[in-house]
Amino acid sequence: MSVPFFDMAAEIASVRTEIDAAIARVLDSGVLIGGEEVAAFERELAVAVGVTHAVGMSSGTDALHVLAMALDISAGDEVVTTPLTFFATAGAFARLGARIVFADVDDSTLTLDPIAAQSVCSSRSRAIVPVHLFGHPADLPAVSCPIIEDAAQSIGGGALRGLAAAFSFFPTKNLGAIGDAGAVVTNDAMLADRVALLRTQGARPKYHHLAIGGNFRIDSLQAAVLRAKLAHLGQRTSARRARAERYHKIFEAAHVPSELRLPVPHPAHMYHQFVIRAPRRDELRRQLASHGIATEVYYPEPLHLQPCLEQLGYRRGSFPNAERACNEVLALPIQPSLSEDTQVQVVEMIAGFFR
Ligand SMILES: Cc1ncc(COP(=O)(O)O)c(C=O)c1O
Repeated sequence: MSVPFFDMAAEIASVRTEIDAAIARVLDSGVLIGGEEVAAFERELAVAVGVTHAVGMSSGTDALHVLAMALDISAGDEVVTTPLTFFATAGAFARLGARIVFADVDDSTLTLDPIAAQSVCSSRSRAIVPVHLFGHPADLPAVSCPIIEDAAQSIGGGALRGLAAAFSFFPTKNLGAIGDAGAVVTNDAMLADRVALLRTQGARPKYHHLAIGGNFRIDSLQAAVLRAKLAHLGQRTSARRARAERYHKIFEAAHVPSELRLPVPHPAHMYHQFVIRAPRRDELRRQLASHGIATEVYYPEPLHLQPCLEQLGYRRGSFPNAERACNEVLALPIQPSLSEDTQVQVVEMIAGFFR
């Protein structure tokens, strides 16, 4: 048996003709940076997400980082977020000197606990950054400071609720480019304008620098490919949700032990990942691998215990829910093309491990 965690070749093959046409269009136009492809992608993305402004960026990390720059976040400011996320969620703000203040996740959804987040907010808090982890929409805390949604894993998963959201189009994401890319979306025209300014060295017009920005542009090639793939996002989201539902049904029939927990359903869940919680997770993972079934662990170590954030003073035990999750989470294959037979085999192998 060979079940890849993510079959990139199959992913590309499913839209290859359209990707080839998009690439040819860019090469024929001779415009490789900016131009109509980027402008059209931004218009189409804004419509798809239901916002007034979308700004294409070089990556999801840069989308978060430039949002932090646009909000003038700097040393002495605090940013509240979850310890159970990809490093960039915190790194994008810490790079500007902000102090990261973590709050624990909700034990069932694994997203930032809004009450815990509210309780660590102070007059120094300049932003709250909930993460729609694995595609599950995070509940937003009732706070007065700006909410920046890390929506890297949840494109298409419902309307923008905070001030702005950052998307990642890393190739394995639900909407994946053929390299690095990202976007900022917002309904705030001034914020969108500031992000767009900072994206191109803060220059307006060219060679006249109003702000200290950088090069955070999306390539025209990536924008063109993303336009082609955006047209399929709705159908592919439905396919992911159908596979998640199928996993739930197959697991139910397989009588797995009650300590094995399935992801909590939510009508707006994007199932970027289908993450179970398993006792003896590492042993289970090795056994699945020995039978050709690939899985992943997101994330093996919470951010508050990362060596580079040691100076924040958190310890093991600071955030028990996030720490427990790091020992239990196991992401199963959930690609839109995943067959029912494969899902049955994956679940049977897991059930067999616990018998
Ligand atoms: C939750 C989260 N935040 C931020 C990022 C950063 O995105 P990128 O890899 O496009 O820089 C990712 C993706 O890797 C992510 O999963």
